[in-house]
Amino acid sequence: MNAQVNNSLTPVLQVVGLRKSYGDHLALDGVDFEVHAREVVAVLGPSGSGKSTLVRCIDQLESIQGGAMYLDGELLGYERHRDGIRPLTDADVQRQRRRMGMVFQQFNLFPHWTVLRNITEAPVKVHGVPPAEAKERAMELLARVGLADKANAHPRQLSGGQQQRVAIARAVATRPRILLFDEPTSSLDPELVDEVLQVMKDLAETGMTMIVVTHELEFARHVADRCVFMADGQVIEDRPSADFFDRPESTRLRTFLTRTSAAPAGGLA
Ligand SMILES: Nc1ncnc2c1ncn2[C@@H]1O[C@H](COP(=O)(O)OP(=O)(O)OP(=O)(O)O)[C@@H](O)[C@H]1O
Ligand SMILES: [Mg+2]
Repeated sequence: MNAQVNNSLTPVLQVVGLRKSYGDHLALDGVDFEVHAREVVAVLGPSGSGKSTLVRCIDQLESIQGGAMYLDGELLGYERHRDGIRPLTDADVQRQRRRMGMVFQQFNLFPHWTVLRNITEAPVKVHGVPPAEAKERAMELLARVGLADKANAHPRQLSGGQQQRVAIARAVATRPRILLFDEPTSSLDPELVDEVLQVMKDLAETGMTMIVVTHELEFARHVADRCVFMADGQVIEDRPSADFFDRPESTRLRTFLTRTSAAPAGGLA
């Protein structure tokens, strides 16, 4: 049944045979992979390979056409009953989504709220954390991302790199089981990329479980435990980071790595 299993052998996230289509176009064509507690998994691949679609499906922002996903062993989006499976209610989907954090390319902070309120809103309003406790944690997180002095600023007063660091603090504030990043540095000026990657590296070192869609190969090689290479909606390689970069098996990955490494900073693969 749909019982939640939670031991160290159960992956935090498991994706099995996931299929997603937009009309006739199959964006995910049977994706399998899993992420264990404290693992950082980088997802790489050419434009249009399905990376964003994958994290959007995991976060239940998209309907799926086949396969299944499990968070701590709990089926996402559906429940089993005696005649098969049926979709969960919106309330149950939201309950599951609250156990994940998502960081997008565009930071999506609320412009009319202070930095502090952007971080405390979900813990207080959605998770029922007492306001004083939420504020204390938000201040702690702001200090961790190097922005303790910006608590009362508004997003427009911050650089893109600072806004993304606030967005990361916001995602962590709800104590998610897993954080999903979709190209968190792609919209930043090149000189602001490193400060955001550093915050993500620090998070990884605290044991946060993370999936990171990125074009930052150095980050993937040095921070991720595993790298997943996608092409045409499929996982082509899923290997420990060192093997992925030093001993790619497929011609497609070899070509991708050569092209991406050769591209100028901020350039396209
Ligand atoms: N809302 C949508 N409607 C129709 N097709 C879509 C939609 N979103 C994505 N697609 C298609 O699905 C495929 C996968 O797109 P996706 O955005 O997941 O790629 P990606 O790997 O994230 O690419 P990029 O590196 O450019 O961000 C692409 O062919 C894309 O055109
Ligand atoms: Mg994308």
